[in-house]
Amino acid sequence: VRRFFQPKYLEGKRVLITAGPTFEAIDAVRGLTNRSSGRMGLAMAQAALEAGTRVTLICGPICLPLPAVHKFVQVVSAEEMLAAVKNEVDNSDIFISVAAVADYRPAEYHASKLKKKEQNITLTLVPNPDIVRYVASLPNPPFCVGFAAETDNIEQYAAEKRSRKKLPLIVANHATEAIGADASTLMLLDEEGTHHLPKVDKSVQARLVMAHIAHLYDNRKN
Ligand code: CTP
Ligand code: CA
Repeated sequence: VRRFFQPKYLEGKRVLITAGPTFEAIDAVRGLTNRSSGRMGLAMAQAALEAGTRVTLICGPICLPLPAVHKFVQVVSAEEMLAAVKNEVDNSDIFISVAAVADYRPAEYHASKLKKKEQNITLTLVPNPDIVRYVASLPNPPFCVGFAAETDNIEQYAAEKRSRKKLPLIVANHATEAIGADASTLMLLDEEGTHHLPKVDKSVQARLVMAHIAHLYDNRKN
């Protein structure tokens, strides 16, 4: 909490953030996406700037004004987001994975527009790479933070994700409450347990999360 009031408490650190949804194309004009607005990711980028860090933001398709980050990379699909993350990760001390990465993409992409038929059609989906899991399992990973949006069993599912993805910290929120909203209740799950954040707006929550990340980062073991 003390850090929350200190200016530039992470001065000189390099923070990589993913934000927004991804869009997985089906054909030239259609695709699959989700309802992530990108608000929380941008709020984290703003909070990271206020903490004095150098921020690289990798963002899926969103329509919101951007904070004045040091580097901005626009991507569309999960595979593009992974490629962009691979380009930036060696230059990062902290990776904050806020993006709502699509879990699947269509098995094939049609370059021309598909024509409608008077019958059911089947779309085959293949799993996308798990970006935060990939980063956390690198030989010399940055300090990795995940976000988990759940609709039920929030704390249990988030705790399982934290251990499955080997993340020192995961931020859990209520998916339907959070989508596009200014505030939702957040929980921070780390090795000490669960911390509940007050229901304040996303910009204040992001600053609280950032202060907690700095606390864990400064006390990390490696
Ligand atoms: N994540 C990721 N790459 C993916 C899927 C998720 O990097 N392909 C990251 C998200 O950015 C987030 C964390 O993993 O930080 C948790 O995402 P979430 O969708 O809640 O978890 P999943 O493991 O995809 O599980 P599920 O969607 O089934 O709840
Ligand atoms: Ca998912």
